[in-house]
Amino acid sequence: MADSAGIQQGSPAIGAAGLVPAAPGAGGTEGSGAARGSARIAVKKAQLRSSPRPKKLEKLGVYSSCKAEGACKCNGWKSQNPPPTPPQTEQQSNAVNLQEPCRSCSHTLGDHVTHLENVSEEEMNRLLGIVLDVEYLYTCIHKEEDADTKQVYFSLFKLLRKSILQMGKPMLEAQESPPFEKPSIEQGVNNFVQYKFSHLPSKERQTIMELAKMFLNQINYWQLETPSQRRQRVPNDDAAGYKVNYTRWLCYCNVPQFCDSLPRYETTQIFGRTLLRSVFTVMRKQLLEQARQEKDKLPPEKRTLILTHFPKFLSMLEEEVYSHNSPIWSQDFLAGAAGGQIPIHTVISAASVARPLYYSTSPVSVDPSTCGSVSPARKAASVLEPNPVGEKRKPSEPLSHEENKRPRVVGDIPMDLINEVMATITDPAAIPETSLLSAHSARDEAARLEERRGVIEFHVIGNSLNQKPNKRILMWLVGLQNVFSHQLPRMPKEYITRLVFDPKHKTLSLIKDGRVIGGICFRMFPSQGFTEIVFCAVTSNEQVKGYGTHLMNHLKEYHIKHEILNFLTYADEYAIGYFKKQGFSKDIKVPKSKYVGYIKDYEGATLMGCELNPSIPYTEFSVIIKKQKEIIKKLIERKQAQIRKVYPGLSCFKDGVRQIPIESIPGIRETGWKPVGKGKELKDPDQLYSTLKTILQHVKSHQNAWPFMEPVKKTEAPGYYQVIRFPMDLKTMSERLKSRYYTTRKLFMADMQRIFTNCREYNPPESEYYKCANLLEKFFYTKIKEAGLIEK
Ligand code: ACO
Repeated sequence: MADSAGIQQGSPAIGAAGLVPAAPGAGGTEGSGAARGSARIAVKKAQLRSSPRPKKLEKLGVYSSCKAEGACKCNGWKSQNPPPTPPQTEQQSNAVNLQEPCRSCSHTLGDHVTHLENVSEEEMNRLLGIVLDVEYLYTCIHKEEDADTKQVYFSLFKLLRKSILQMGKPMLEAQESPPFEKPSIEQGVNNFVQYKFSHLPSKERQTIMELAKMFLNQINYWQLETPSQRRQRVPNDDAAGYKVNYTRWLCYCNVPQFCDSLPRYETTQIFGRTLLRSVFTVMRKQLLEQARQEKDKLPPEKRTLILTHFPKFLSMLEEEVYSHNSPIWSQDFLAGAAGGQIPIHTVISAASVARPLYYSTSPVSVDPSTCGSVSPARKAASVLEPNPVGEKRKPSEPLSHEENKRPRVVGDIPMDLINEVMATITDPAAIPETSLLSAHSARDEAARLEERRGVIEFHVIGNSLNQKPNKRILMWLVGLQNVFSHQLPRMPKEYITRLVFDPKHKTLSLIKDGRVIGGICFRMFPSQGFTEIVFCAVTSNEQVKGYGTHLMNHLKEYHIKHEILNFLTYADEYAIGYFKKQGFSKDIKVPKSKYVGYIKDYEGATLMGCELNPSIPYTEFSVIIKKQKEIIKKLIERKQAQIRKVYPGLSCFKDGVRQIPIESIPGIRETGWKPVGKGKELKDPDQLYSTLKTILQHVKSHQNAWPFMEPVKKTEAPGYYQVIRFPMDLKTMSERLKSRYYTTRKLFMADMQRIFTNCREYNPPESEYYKCANLLEKFFYTKIKEAGLIEK
């Protein structure tokens, strides 16, 4: 069973049936025994139940105590002649002698079964069912190698034996009876479907429900790994907690699959998020792997469901399973939502950058990958802080609404295409497993994953004068004071202590294994529109693992929630690099009048500031960017595949044509090129003249216009006129304008464009001239857009 309990073998087949899991306990040595055993026991039970009554009595006598006078202690009749091998034929075995003495107590078989004299056939059959289960468990105990599993089998064996002796029903005696956690996995998954997909048209919703059903089915037949296997795989996990759940699972779900005299429950109905969390990652990986391996065997109608939708479904669900406060695990999931509606996403995520990641074509759906878990710091804050500061964003708050209402912009990539691309990149084969962090991972990725797996936690804590001190918070504050004192040796210890324990200061603390390993102490000045970061540190052996970045990202999200969008800090000279990487700069956006007199000036430190963008979900930002890059890469690949086409060369020039419109070049539009200047052509020559004159004046007055004011002098630029066939400059343009040469905006724009193109052709990119051309060109296009000569 040690092997059989292995998750690998236990995974039920998605298989050809698509939705139907394989037999319980499939795979493994004794595990497959569980499956085969289950069928074998069923056959044996049927045989035994149809055998004559004496035969049944003989079988039950073996498990019944002796009722002979004199208080015999024998608890089961033992035959003088143990059954021969091979067993006797049916005919012979039916010959039962109730007078045969017991090998152990010498009383007869009849003495052991007197209590069964008037028992109904039905009850006899029930007891015989238990007998066969006992015998099967006995074999399992002997074959089992895993100590924990063996122990559970043994307890169940004793329980079943006792119920035969007492003719009772097998009742598991445990401190807690099922369900062990609410909401159950089944309820949670149903909530998830409601939460994420309720807006979909019914056909699509049906598909999702099918996926959910399939997933739940898989869990119900999933072989959990033994506690020792798990300890080896995840050493830092809550081993005791897992063992309790494993034992419960064996007793209530697994063993009853083959020993049907025990009451059986579905894993998904009696366990909740805790058990799901302990199996999800491995399960997801194996299911996807299995789907890939079996893809050729899948019936055509299931292929898309399993190969395309299932991976996406699992990644979305994973996000909710590991998120610290996903609403799907809330007991009052539906009741809590206004008007009984499904709550909309409650996390910070209005990032416009995140938009293309919507999973469905519906504008209200939000892909979980764009808006991951709400910071546990926020969740914890409501519990730990005297004044809850970390509640979830309410559905009615503007950010989420704004997000849902965003209109689609002309030129946006069609949703269908994005969904199609998304489906390909959620395939784990396309995106490397997040746990296998590559050299190109974002710096906070490892920390983000650790947080999701519960290895680290973030809490905003502070001291309070009017609340009873909470021992845990005080311990953490002391821990923070230690981390800051060690990492900031130039700060007087007393000063650190004073600020960390000052009720006006709060600290975002990073906890690992119940211990503080870092934090950011800050003071909020809401009336001044900024927060001062006072101390920031991570304990030495945990530095450069991304914790500092993740801490800062949490702090940013915390402040967006509290509508403070500026940080100021006096950065230690060694920490300037770190702060720069977190988006801080020496260019302070907060007006001096707002902070002078409010924040402490530190000698030898540099004042740095960071302006927050409330649309950015900072803790998820790097993931979003990574996914977007992936999408864009795929879109480009698709486009390239479409336009990789060779057109015949242009022959018109041979026929004396000197110039053709760009848009007439075959294939140019397919590359995405669009003609510039799709703007308003000014019909009135005077209006055109005055518009162009204004633009030209602006351009000539620009600080980067100096190289282009006059025609290039041959003496200053040797060989210029050999390289540049059609020179142009601002003075010539002024003359042309004056002479009313520019009868259309196109002529004007073409001359101006020539100035920039010539410059870039003649000069190297690192030259001053080249840079001026780029800057002036940018300015020129801003001006003509402002004048409405081209579309904005
Ligand atoms: N100088 C330059 N870059 C740095 C520094 C530094 N001192 N510290 C970290 N970085 C870089 C890292 O190399 C990393 O960059 P990369 O991803 O491009 O390689 C990035 O900053 C973030 O690294 P993290 O792993 O996220 O940060 P870490 O967990 O190491 O925490 C911190 C950074 C808090 C500065 C930590 O190094 C520390 O505690 N240092 C000692 C205390 C200190 O100097 N605190 C700041 C004083 S100023 C004040 O408190 C207001």
